[in-house]
This record gives sequence, C-alpha cells and structure tokens, in this order.
Amino acid sequence: MSKIAIMGAMAEEIEPILEKVENIKKIEYAKNIYYEATYKGKDIVIAYSKIGKVFASLTATILIEKFKCKKLLFSGVAGAINSELEIGDLIIASSLCQHDLDITAFGHPHGYVPEGDVCIFTDKALRDVAKKVAKESNLELKEGMVATGDQFVACSDRKEFISSTFKADALEMEGGSVAVICDALDIPFFILRAISDTADGSADIDFDKFLESSAKISADFILDMVKEIE
Ligand code: ADE
Repeated sequence: MSKIAIMGAMAEEIEPILEKVENIKKIEYAKNIYYEATYKGKDIVIAYSKIGKVFASLTATILIEKFKCKKLLFSGVAGAINSELEIGDLIIASSLCQHDLDITAFGHPHGYVPEGDVCIFTDKALRDVAKKVAKESNLELKEGMVATGDQFVACSDRKEFISSTFKADALEMEGGSVAVICDALDIPFFILRAISDTADGSADIDFDKFLESSAKISADFILDMVKEIE
C-alpha cells in the first residue's frame, strides 16, 4: 500500500483533514511542519505549503523525496473563471498551466518555456476515483483547466486575459507548480478546488468570507477519496 500525500497552501485548507485523521506525528523539516497520520488504515502525510508556486514546489518535492509519498492529492480553494462555477462548487483539474509564465518577448506562447509544456494533465485514475466518490455521495463535480500564478486575481481584466489565453475554468496559486514537480518525478497527482470567489473586484472580500467553508468542502471530499485509493 502506497503512502499518500495530501497538501494545501494554507492552514485553513488542511485543518479539516487534521481534525479527522488518526495517529498524528508532527515532523519539522525545511521550515515547515509535516503530519504523518493514518486514515481508514491508509498511511498519509499532510502539509500546507504556504501560498504560491515556490513554496508549493518545495512542499510537493519534500512529500515525494523525503516522505516517499507515491501519490499526491491537493485540496484547497480557487477563484472561478467559468461562469457556471458558483461559490462552494467543486472543480477537479483535468490539466494545469502557469498563467504568469511569460517569455512572449522571444516569440513563445504564454505559459511556455523551452523543454516545458504549457499544460500538464492530472492522473486519470485519480480523476476516476473522484468521479466515483462524487456519484456515490450525490455531489456535483466539475472538471476543467486550472490556471496558476503568483497573483491573487481580483480584477476582471486579468481574469479575462487568463480566460481567453488559456481557456481556463478556475485559477489559483499553487496547482500548476505541483503539476510540474509531480510530472517530473513521475508521481500520479490530483488537484481539487472548491470555489471561494470569482476573481473579480469583490474577490478579496469573498475570499475572506468563504475560505473556511469552501476549504472544508474540498477537504472532506479528499478524505472520502483516500478511502478509495489503493
Ligand atoms: N485562490 C482563491 N481565489 C483566488 C484568486 N482570486 N486568485 C488567486 N488565487 C485564488
């Protein structure tokens, strides 16, 4: 049975998970805290990275290289781009990109650097587990492209740029970098987000209002998935 990593970006994103798991052992490493634990007999390691692509890359790498996790699940919140997404809705990333990666000055497309990919796809088997869990619990799950960048987007112009350039359905600040790490290290990964805001002028207010409730919706779903993962 393989060890499963569960990561979030903020404390609020992993707290609902820590409340439900058993046999917690706290380990400090690289200026962060990692929680080894068990859930329904499965070995898991939980951590929040802090916000942004650099911290998320560091945490994902440590979960894989030091803690030897063989699968990685990310749980958290996102801003909606697709107008069908409402606050509290769950979206699983089919693929992820980095909307702020820009060497267009050299004629490259947005989100691309030589020897990289604009889009990285998440693991199909894990997406299928999510769909099974959603069906069994009668929950609606949307699937789409998630755009990542080191910016909290609270502006309709930026949101529109990300929508038209990447055809993204939601945006956040970590998933695309976790995708790069897991793809490079050949680790199946899954990114789940519950909508906290709509990435426009009122995003900061909505984020503060809905962070906790949306983070819990995502966290509860991730734990239901753990039961089903071999
Ligand atoms: N995560 C949740 N909402 C976000 C937003 N509006 N911008 C970036 N990351 C987010």
